[in-house]
Amino acid sequence: MQTTTNINIGLVGFGVVGKGLYDVLQRTPALQATVKKICIKHLNKKRILDNSIFTHHFYDLLKDDTINVIVELIDDAEVAYQIVKASLQKGKAVVSANKKMIAAHFKELMELQKTHNVAFLYEASCCAGIPVIRNLEEYYDNDLLSQIRGIINGSTNFILTKITEEGLSFKEALQLAQAAGFAESDPTLDIEGHDAANKLTILAPHAFGTIINTQNILYTGITSIKKQDALYANEKGCTIKLVAHAKKISHTELAVLILPQLVKKEDDLYNVKNEFNALETESFFADKHFFKGKGAGAYPTAAAVLSDISALRYGYKYEYKKMKITTQLNVGNNYFVQVIVSADDVTKIKESSFLKIEEWHSENNYVRIRGTISALHLKENEWWKKEGVSLLLNVKAFDVAASKKIKQGEFNNNLLNVTNTN
Ligand code: HSE
Repeated sequence: MQTTTNINIGLVGFGVVGKGLYDVLQRTPALQATVKKICIKHLNKKRILDNSIFTHHFYDLLKDDTINVIVELIDDAEVAYQIVKASLQKGKAVVSANKKMIAAHFKELMELQKTHNVAFLYEASCCAGIPVIRNLEEYYDNDLLSQIRGIINGSTNFILTKITEEGLSFKEALQLAQAAGFAESDPTLDIEGHDAANKLTILAPHAFGTIINTQNILYTGITSIKKQDALYANEKGCTIKLVAHAKKISHTELAVLILPQLVKKEDDLYNVKNEFNALETESFFADKHFFKGKGAGAYPTAAAVLSDISALRYGYKYEYKKMKITTQLNVGNNYFVQVIVSADDVTKIKESSFLKIEEWHSENNYVRIRGTISALHLKENEWWKKEGVSLLLNVKAFDVAASKKIKQGEFNNNLLNVTNTN
């Protein structure tokens, strides 16, 4: 899109974010962006706008040569993919918030925009109102990042806050997140960690110049967090957060994980509550930066879409700069993590999986183990995701000492060190 062109939008989807965007655009006349047509699934629903602006057929937007920007804000990742692909092939700039679709087709979409020399922007797909993608893309290209870590799903953070601070049940908290429009229409995407995994897949190329496959991420959600976990966290002066983490562990490897974690008061993530998201970056010269803002909801998401639309006005495109200047990293699970695993039945925990056990506590049927375990083992085994078992990363997630000793061949099978604290 040329820098002088008017912005005529073909909007796809008129749900929470679509309506939010429409409203935001009415309040920002200086942008001179006009919604020309809105493509929706159900034409018969009662709408707040005149019927003439709506269509049921995406082709009406595609064939309209006056529409130069497609804003895709629907749920269905497969339909969204077809829409985005067709729009880019037609030379229309695209703004999307569909993290599932972007994560699944990252490489192809990146190539399509290059082939057709057209912009594809998706700031709203990660951390909604926080401008993370453009910052990762533009700012850290000389002082390269060693890690990014944060809370990147608003619904799970909202649910954890309500459970730990207000004593709500999981179900009640989820219902509130849904009513507020934070949760996905299929909330399992949020609570099982898939949404955060899709977002981390999108952030990684912008942060590290590496395209990753979502399937390679070591992740889970918050469905297994029990009352005992919250009490244990409290006892330790911590709270529980679903923390996403991507960290360079060698010149060729990136550790990429999303797991519930014990977070101490001194950690900046501790005070990130409700639907707020945060991202901490770490680079060699700048050290740490901390971004915090609303990670879900109509207006914060619409604000990010608005910012992308505005960036199109000056011809902005992602250049994927780090892919040109850094060595490609692979997702690697060659590291150790400190965890707290608990279960309602001791036989559900595979003790032999631990490299070392530092604390063992059992009470009636409840058992809790604190120890060090290999990330590779967690990635390749599912026992810790089974009903009745929960896993929390300890405050210091990475067990650097164990990783070093393994590299030096100092650990062997006899090192299982069990301390019973009961
Ligand atoms: N369901 C998502 C979340 C919406 O809760 O973070 C914003 O991407």
